[in-house]
Amino acid sequence: MQSFTYLSPTEVVFGKDTELQTAALIRRYGGSRILLVYGGGSILRSGLLNRIQQVLEEAHLTQEVFGGAKANPTMEHAREGVKKALEFQADFILGIGGGSAIDTAKAIAIGAAAPDTDLSEFWGGAKKPVTALPTGAVLTISAAGSETSNSAVLTNLATGAKRGLSSDLNRPRFAIMNPELTYTLPVYQVACGVVDIMMHTLDRYFNPTENEMTDAIAEALLRTVIAKGPVAVRDTHDYDAMSELMWAGSLSHNGLTGLGGPGDFAVHQLGHELSAMFDTAHGASLSTVWEAWALAVCDAKPSRFARYARNVWGLTEGDEDTLARAGIKATGDFFRSLSMPTSFSENPDIGVQAETVLRDLAHRCSNQGRRTIGSFRVLDEEAIYLIYRGANY
Ligand code: NZQ
Ligand code: ZN
Repeated sequence: MQSFTYLSPTEVVFGKDTELQTAALIRRYGGSRILLVYGGGSILRSGLLNRIQQVLEEAHLTQEVFGGAKANPTMEHAREGVKKALEFQADFILGIGGGSAIDTAKAIAIGAAAPDTDLSEFWGGAKKPVTALPTGAVLTISAAGSETSNSAVLTNLATGAKRGLSSDLNRPRFAIMNPELTYTLPVYQVACGVVDIMMHTLDRYFNPTENEMTDAIAEALLRTVIAKGPVAVRDTHDYDAMSELMWAGSLSHNGLTGLGGPGDFAVHQLGHELSAMFDTAHGASLSTVWEAWALAVCDAKPSRFARYARNVWGLTEGDEDTLARAGIKATGDFFRSLSMPTSFSENPDIGVQAETVLRDLAHRCSNQGRRTIGSFRVLDEEAIYLIYRGANY
């Protein structure tokens, strides 16, 4: 097991009606002037924004709203949010929604605490943030895990790059998780979430190390999501299934399922490039490339994929290579059973692409050939290109 530091300080408040505790939680973490950050309007339609505003008003907390975070949120929009936070003199940023709203809230919290530094310097890696305003999250979709993660992902429209910033400053002070708030989700978004939750664990699980405790937690999480995901897709009002997905979503991306290993995250990097170029949903970007990635890297350590097939999918027949391939196919079949795309042609936002586009994707994903991705098998620009080509059917 490699050395690690594990910090997961977010106070999780889970269950029905927990959004009614928003004001008390904000007060506990020192907020008095609250900027409410949300997405495209689902929380207006569901009445959630109204409920939260009322609770804050009753607690005499001063509030301002900042909506409009797009799925695949942009740095340009977050910059406007920083401006608004500064004008309003916000001392607490509350993200209400999914990864897009919460990541925008995190970016505003970092930007407002360092008004002389442009967000692109932090998200481009030129500077490390040293302080941030406190944030909280009210979650409405189980997927990105941003409610407890140390990461925030933005697309810089000017450069076309979609990149994450990892920093413990990004950890929200609290996360309100009421599974009933996810009942209004479209089935497609539930399925995207199932893929993303699995992928946060898979992108950690497939690394060069073996750590029994961590691996066993990861496998249990994957089995849970595989059991409950299809139930949630069939009935978004199934409290048990939506609860399990919600908790799995947080545990999958707060660091727990990868402790003691280096992580891989190649599939996330491959997917971010697809979302940046084609604006496809994050979960769909991941299922689109996962099988092509797995087939390209499996030979690096077939025994790892065989263990995955046995412990996650319950497969037993055949030698290590056969099992490894069967586990990959089972994963692809599972995604397809949720109507999630597993190739470019199955993804309506993408479609089969010309050779030049595949090369361009690989060039961008490798930061113009300056970085490799992954650890299970380290992938350079050419290897990245071959994976995109493998998914291009
Ligand atoms: O914008 P609104 O109107 O709220 O609609 C959203 C959006 O269209 C809708 N939605 C959310 N909750 C709903 C709802 N519709 C009805 N009822 C509800 N209860 O669902 C759509 C997707 O929302 P979004 O926030 O984009 O989803 P998700 O949580 O999947 O977040 C995706 C973003 O998070 C990033 C992704 O790259 C992507 O940009 N990620 C963030 C991570 C992090 N911060 O740790 C890690 C992830 O790997 C991921 O990269
Ligand atoms: Zn993800």
